Amino acid sequence: MRLLLSLLALTVTLGRADTSEKSFQPYTEGPKTRDGIGKYFMGREISQVMGHLGAGWLERSEREQEEKPSLLMKNLELAEDAVVADIGAGSGYFTFKLAEKVPKGKVIAVDIQQEMIDILKKRRKAFGIENVETLLSVEDDTRLPENEVDAVLLVDAYHEFSFPREMLASMYRALKPGGRIFLLEYRAEDPLVPIKPLHKMSQKQAKVEYAASGFRWVETRDFLPRQHFMIFEKPILKTPAKPKSPETSEEIKADERS
Ligand SMILES: C[S@@+](CC[C@H](N)C(=O)[O-])C[C@H]1O[C@@H](n2cnc3c(N)ncnc32)[C@H](O)[C@@H]1O
Repeated sequence: MRLLLSLLALTVTLGRADTSEKSFQPYTEGPKTRDGIGKYFMGREISQVMGHLGAGWLERSEREQEEKPSLLMKNLELAEDAVVADIGAGSGYFTFKLAEKVPKGKVIAVDIQQEMIDILKKRRKAFGIENVETLLSVEDDTRLPENEVDAVLLVDAYHEFSFPREMLASMYRALKPGGRIFLLEYRAEDPLVPIKPLHKMSQKQAKVEYAASGFRWVETRDFLPRQHFMIFEKPILKTPAKPKSPETSEEIKADERS
């Protein structure tokens, strides 16, 4: 009888361990396409990271005409003393525009590539801007302090995160309750947007991924020529949100068909 009870207790414990966050595997392996890494998150293949040699492309003069970044900046509602993290900041194309919008606050430019951080630091010196900090991060962690930032800007970067679930959790921790993520991604739904498929994202896919990490979708404003402008919020909760298990790619695809 005692043995039977012990076996029962062991089965219950193992059963519990199977559903814990630690044993939960959010990623699957799949076919590696030309611009991808063969790792899939909720049905989406993660794209390769744009190397620092692409910094010149980020600063191209046609960007204003093609993507209307000044229109994007006009539509970013930020208090002048806000603390904003520009994650996947690259050469700082948006970092310095953000810095002008928060003269009494600051911008933390976060990137995993030391070379990008070095470019950004050089430009900061040349512009004489004082409210920009840089932060060298790692693939699965922004390294931002908890409850520090009012807003996060992600322009053409999220689809490259090789650990999106961990990065979402890291951004969640870094944001103050009620803090917002402004997610800018090339529209996957629009075949006329001249960008490689893995560097685009559909609105539906972004919503599923962010909801699974506890974010509330606020709105999508499609006023830009090529990108979705999506707003997600860290809810103000009495008890912390528990991430839900991701839906499968089949569920997302079925949803898209309906
Ligand atoms: C295509 S660039 C966009 C740069 C900038 N946001 C812009 O629009 O000009 C993407 C940047 O995201 C960075 N990145 C990729 N994965 C990252 C991660 N897990 N955490 C932080 N930055 C990351 C890359 O190093 C690269 O500089």
